[in-house]
Amino acid sequence: MQSTILTDTRERRVLIGKKFNYELPYPILMIDDNLELHQMTIEHKEELFLLIDNNRNHLRKWLPWVDDIKSVLDEENFIKSTLNDYSQGRGIHYEIVYDGQIVGNIGLNWIDYNNRSCGVGYWLAEKYTGNGIITKCCKRLMKHCFYDLNFHRFVLEVAVNNTPSIKVANRLGMRLEGKSLDREWLYDHFTDSFLYAITIVEIN
Ligand SMILES: CC(C)(COP(=O)(O)OP(=O)(O)OC[C@H]1O[C@@H](n2cnc3c(N)ncnc32)[C@H](O)[C@@H]1OP(=O)(O)O)[C@@H](O)C(=O)NCCC(=O)NCCS
Repeated sequence: MQSTILTDTRERRVLIGKKFNYELPYPILMIDDNLELHQMTIEHKEELFLLIDNNRNHLRKWLPWVDDIKSVLDEENFIKSTLNDYSQGRGIHYEIVYDGQIVGNIGLNWIDYNNRSCGVGYWLAEKYTGNGIITKCCKRLMKHCFYDLNFHRFVLEVAVNNTPSIKVANRLGMRLEGKSLDREWLYDHFTDSFLYAITIVEIN
């Protein structure tokens, strides 16, 4: 399962026309010597719960599910649901492993195999922000989607005031396609969101 990085535009266009295989995302993606993505596993339920529990205020600002994870059992149930989604080809959630520690999550919240499209989501423990970790992880996942899985379109939805995440979209060269009003309910208010996307022919 080696990844193929295509640089030639002509080759990319051939890939677009290629018969599409329904291949699931790979469970492990290597990024560099100290950064890897591993599919979320129930074995790490306590570590994952503690990471969320220690970062509630940071995560709650932009993520709507934080209050639903009140115990290790809640996290275990969440992980089980992600594994079930994976087996049905609906998405994947990865642990971000940095220097051997789980420091956050990234994943495909949805996959639309019929249209060869997917939507990314991510978060990082506060103390690991500011180092480019999410940008690297997102770039690796995007390339995996395009070059290994033959997806065509990679989407990110981000709240209009979430500047750190908007910067990630910009660093990845994603295009702003529009603004959705009242897109997400965040505990006590709706927030508008921007829709960013990139297709395989746009990446360089
Ligand atoms: C969104 C979130 C993951 C972004 O984290 P982040 O650390 O800003 O993003 P990155 O890991 O890509 O790091 C980028 C920062 O590292 C710096 N950096 C250092 N080395 C870098 C490198 N080699 N490459 C890119 N950036 C680098 C950048 O300058 C940038 O800092 P800046 O914001 O001061 O400009 C984080 O804020 C978070 O978890 N927020 C809460 C949850 C959330 O909002 N999730 C997204 C919902 S859409």
